Amino acid sequence: MRGCRAFSFLVFCLFLFHGVNGENPYRFLTWKVTYGDIYPLGVKQQGILINGQFPGPQIDVITNDNLIINVFNYLREPFLISWNGIQQRRNSWQDGVYGTNCPIPPGKNFTYILQVKDQIGSFFYFPSLGMHKAAGGFGGIRVWSRPQIPVPFPPPSGDFTVLAGDWYKRDHYQLRRILDAGHDLPFPDGLLINGRGWNGYRFTVDPGKTYRFRISNVGLATSINFRIQGHKMKLVEVEGSHTLQNTYSALDIHLGQSYSVLVTADQPAQDYYIVVSTRFTARVLTTTAVLHYSNSYKGVWGPIPGGPTTQIDWSLNQARSIRYNAITFSL
Ligand SMILES: *[C@@H]1O[C@H](CO)[C@@H](O)[C@H](O)[C@H]1NC(C)=O
Repeated sequence: MRGCRAFSFLVFCLFLFHGVNGENPYRFLTWKVTYGDIYPLGVKQQGILINGQFPGPQIDVITNDNLIINVFNYLREPFLISWNGIQQRRNSWQDGVYGTNCPIPPGKNFTYILQVKDQIGSFFYFPSLGMHKAAGGFGGIRVWSRPQIPVPFPPPSGDFTVLAGDWYKRDHYQLRRILDAGHDLPFPDGLLINGRGWNGYRFTVDPGKTYRFRISNVGLATSINFRIQGHKMKLVEVEGSHTLQNTYSALDIHLGQSYSVLVTADQPAQDYYIVVSTRFTARVLTTTAVLHYSNSYKGVWGPIPGGPTTQIDWSLNQARSIRYNAITFSL
């Protein structure tokens, strides 16, 4: 702990010189991290909530904004948040991983000061200590382009965050004990989409309009495949870079990755399955959410579309097909 303090002091001194960019807007957030009951797979579990929410609140920022996030730890154990994909230029001590950041002791608070310098795109934050991620504490981060910066597609009619991933009924203490005993993580009990199980989450779209879905794999153990019944997806962003816009009917998203797709509600008015299934697992777990057309009087219908399961080539082909947009946008 002393080493950590000394390091923090050094960091503080560096901060005085580098600081954050004062010319860009500041966004101040106050987060209260607590335990709370959640029922994502139908059984009561002790979740980790941020301001009472599971998943935690969405962060919306514009390129170059400064974020000042005062995090109060009301858990009975030390806590840290990591900002997945945020580059933390000259600021690595704010990345919320053990070793660069002192854990926030129980009952104390810590203020993260970071800047989304020259970044755009879709990311997420998650707790980095003690398997807390298995209990929640994660949420989406959207870094919007500055108004004067061209984006290589027309503004979508809506922008949805999809936090998907595997989930355990065991709590994070049990999972921690399993790992501490030298075992691998057990096979997950299910998959969640935005903290909910089967058809537990609904995305409402207007017919004819185009929407952006930002999909992150926030799980602990498995890659996932994402697809929408009857709809194609145009891939426009991967991990903060715009892509050449290929069209897919299913996409693999590996642990920690975030992809943005555009989906046009161009099908007959009804509700459609949004499907997430595990990849490269002997047993395939599946869950669904609902794509609801605002003019639909018909629920989800028909078989749940299948996707790749254990095929590795399929995933490599996808990886090879993604090309980044060669046009450089000056931020
Ligand atoms: C803790 O919160 C108080 C009240 O908002 C604030 O003044 C203080 O700077 C915070 N401390 C840290 C270490 O972030």
